[in-house]
Amino acid sequence: MVGIDKINFYTPNTYIDLEELAKHRGVDPAKFTIGIGQSKMSVPPISQDTVSMAANAAYPLLTENDLNNIDLIVVGTETGVDESKSVASFIHDLLDIHPFAKSVDLKQACFGATAGLMMAVDFVRLHPDKKALVIGSDISRYGLNSSGEVTQGAGSVAMIVSSNPKIIEIEETSVSMTKSIFDFWRPNYSKTAIVDGKFSNEAYISFFSELWVEYSKRTNLSLEDFSAFCFHLPYTKMGKKALLPILEKEAPKNKDLLLENYQYSTNYSRDIGNIYTGSLYLSFMSLIEHASSSLTATDRIGFFSYGSGAVAEIFTGKLVDGFKDSLLSAEHEKLLTNRIDLSIEDYTTMFTKELSIDSDGNHLFNQDKTDNSIFFFKGTENHQRLYGKN
Ligand code: COA
Repeated sequence: MVGIDKINFYTPNTYIDLEELAKHRGVDPAKFTIGIGQSKMSVPPISQDTVSMAANAAYPLLTENDLNNIDLIVVGTETGVDESKSVASFIHDLLDIHPFAKSVDLKQACFGATAGLMMAVDFVRLHPDKKALVIGSDISRYGLNSSGEVTQGAGSVAMIVSSNPKIIEIEETSVSMTKSIFDFWRPNYSKTAIVDGKFSNEAYISFFSELWVEYSKRTNLSLEDFSAFCFHLPYTKMGKKALLPILEKEAPKNKDLLLENYQYSTNYSRDIGNIYTGSLYLSFMSLIEHASSSLTATDRIGFFSYGSGAVAEIFTGKLVDGFKDSLLSAEHEKLLTNRIDLSIEDYTTMFTKELSIDSDGNHLFNQDKTDNSIFFFKGTENHQRLYGKN
């Protein structure tokens, strides 16, 4: 039995309230909070990047035993900090994982962490005494005043994959699908993503429905075999748009259960925003930390991973006995309730602040005063990124 043994998320401790943003942009706040389903959006200071956020998510999980037995570090990201050097190699150093580990990044929009999880599960199946660290880490940026502005966010999810996992066993059958499309992409020369919002919604929904038909044909499983479905959530209404059509013919009892659990799975995303690769796993944490009284061991959870461009996968897992004892619910509540609510002016300043590197590749700065995270980005020296630890 192989699966997720430990899981944690990190998000920067500064956010913008989306009702305030709506008022400032001259939009009815209900469009953001109900129509799109987002209440708050994490905004990273310059001292938090994809690497520091990933280290902050993983650090609280690691014991001495993990540091000595993690032979594989995989980071899924579409907002890496270097075209060549992997985020995973920085993580290996910052977290002090033993030298004989393999560290690599995987990219396919928001799908990268799922590719990493599947790689890690296969790796541990082959080497049952070893572990893998899988991280999804991203800063989602569409730009100020853009159509996607309200669906930005920042954060990381870290998972340790092992034999005899304490949270969920990943089952062997899954179905993937690829179609090369331009629904959302970011050319190398652009700092912000380009999105065809309506087309990306349609693509997401049709990938889910086609995959569900294929998945149920291959496995003979029906919706009654599931206690919940977790979705990649660019915004919290998105998963529901995909889920509702397949629930149409479902008996009311099961339909209500899946919708209720869907709601639980959206709590964290509603207050953090889109974290790209980590989003599906943030949904999973939100589900198991908020619906834990109705979920029990052996309950089957469905996962829908979608990465624009586009690759998607449906896979499943079964909760294991005692999973509730391994959750970090209290720490997550503390992280979210202690955040700073930014004014529109501070949000704009934070959003537009950039490295200004001199011709020798230097720009060092102090940790932003709003940022109390353990790991932080310090700037560059000789074109090399430097990180600090509190
Ligand atoms: N009260 C309540 N709901 C309202 C409303 C109001 N006053 N005004 C609008 N709405 C609803 C709309 O009916 C719509 O709901 P529906 O989608 O269920 O029909 C929703 O709010 C959004 O309105 P829309 O006009 O479609 O918004 P938009 O043109 O600003 O675009 C997104 C919204 C999500 C498409 C856009 O923000 C985007 O492209 N985000 C990026 C998405 C992404 O990341 N995709 C790629 C990864 S999967």
